[in-house]
Amino acid sequence: MSERSCLAIVLAAGEGTRMKSARPKVLHEVAGLPLVCHAARAAQAAGHAELAIVAGRQSDEVLKAASAVAPTARLYLQQERLGTAHAVLAAREAIAEGHDDILVLFADTPLVESDDITALRKGLAEGAAIVVMGFEAADPSGYGRLLTDGDRLLAVREDKDCTDAERKITFCNGGLMAIAGEHALALIEAVGNANAKGEYYLTDIVEIAVARGLKVVATVADEQNVLGVNNRVQLAEAEAAWQARKRREMMLAGVTLIAPQTVHFSHDTEIGADTVVEPNVVFGPGVSIAENAVIHAFSHLEGAQIAQGVQVGPFARLRPGARLSENAKVGNFCEVKNADVAAGAKINHLSYIGDASIGAGANIGAGTITCNYDGFLKHRTTIGAGAFIGSNSSLVAPITIGDGGYVASGSVITQDVPADGLAFGRARQTNKDGLGAELRARLKAEKDARKSGKT
Ligand code: UD1
Ligand code: MG
Repeated sequence: MSERSCLAIVLAAGEGTRMKSARPKVLHEVAGLPLVCHAARAAQAAGHAELAIVAGRQSDEVLKAASAVAPTARLYLQQERLGTAHAVLAAREAIAEGHDDILVLFADTPLVESDDITALRKGLAEGAAIVVMGFEAADPSGYGRLLTDGDRLLAVREDKDCTDAERKITFCNGGLMAIAGEHALALIEAVGNANAKGEYYLTDIVEIAVARGLKVVATVADEQNVLGVNNRVQLAEAEAAWQARKRREMMLAGVTLIAPQTVHFSHDTEIGADTVVEPNVVFGPGVSIAENAVIHAFSHLEGAQIAQGVQVGPFARLRPGARLSENAKVGNFCEVKNADVAAGAKINHLSYIGDASIGAGANIGAGTITCNYDGFLKHRTTIGAGAFIGSNSSLVAPITIGDGGYVASGSVITQDVPADGLAFGRARQTNKDGLGAELRARLKAEKDARKSGKT
């Protein structure tokens, strides 16, 4: 099929008023990725397709979002929202280029799978002029009904235009369609708007094609795959369905999820086999984890690269630019940002490591803070291999601790520490024999005197 050229038109001009949002509907996200990008990805996954996006308001932002996954996508504007056929014609110039297959996708339908699209295009390759993606609806209300005769599709009847008998049909239009390029413009231009909504329905091309003796068929997709997002309840449903799919995919690829329903992935999370993810872990965008790592419970990761055998958490926060090498450890209540942590280094408890490099095998004691920000600029902390930072130390950046350097606990370090040096950055302790007992006696006497004064 790959030799057939393909244009995928993503309709993204929905007003989305039911989202109750200042943002266009198609920029709302599932798994951290705008809806319009999910549709664009589905189109691309099914074989090389040129992408045309038809947008309405805030079209620049819609194109910018789509470009992140489809850099060559072209934008067309639908000035007035007169229906799906009218929207497709906004991309008339692209259709007129003469592609073999024209795909029409809805940007508010993020769960379409590449197999569904492959099936649509296969129908065209087998001689159909139009292939409509159908599904069996648990509740068909609101959807266009597919009127069939055997394996032929005769018409799509929009809900508002159905007779009572037609309204009982449960085989519905999922919204995606493939049209043979040679017929596309002639069919869509023949669509009128004499219907209940006064819109130019793309679905009317089915009846027009049948009247012209062309072959029209329907494929069958899972209802979940054609879930459309019109409000935030459906947005959450789409998110849940997407997450369930991703968890399953991860587990089948060898990742252990102890309580899968509590783990939240981003659209781009990558995890290697034999890594264990404990309950209640959230992955923001840009996380990749190699094999045999353990992400303990209640950790939040974003923009982090994690090598083999690394342990993270429980209750750890990895922010963008955290790069942990083999067998490094970031323990409970630690935050790591824009920092390279070399192999075997340990940051086990209650630390903030930001804008830093930690050498191989270094040990960062509990409560260590890299003071990276002076209120205006960020500065870097460099800690050498095998260094030991005592607990509750503040490392005031820019600062370098040499290889094997030692920092006494409780230090505030403001000057570089040479390799294998030992730095004390704290007040010296003095002990006074017997003074503890003397102080206790004096304080007790004071308290007793106050009490007797009151009574
Ligand atoms: C559409 C189908 C219906 C199908 C249902 C599946 C038509 C006429 N009807 O109905 O058969 O069962 O989807 O969800 O196609 N859009 C534009 N410009 C417009 C109108 C729509 O870009 O002028 C875009 C919307 O942003 C949306 C898509 O086209 O992404 C579908 O439009 P919508 O109004 O949601 O159609 P439905 O009534 O859901
Ligand atoms: Mg819709």
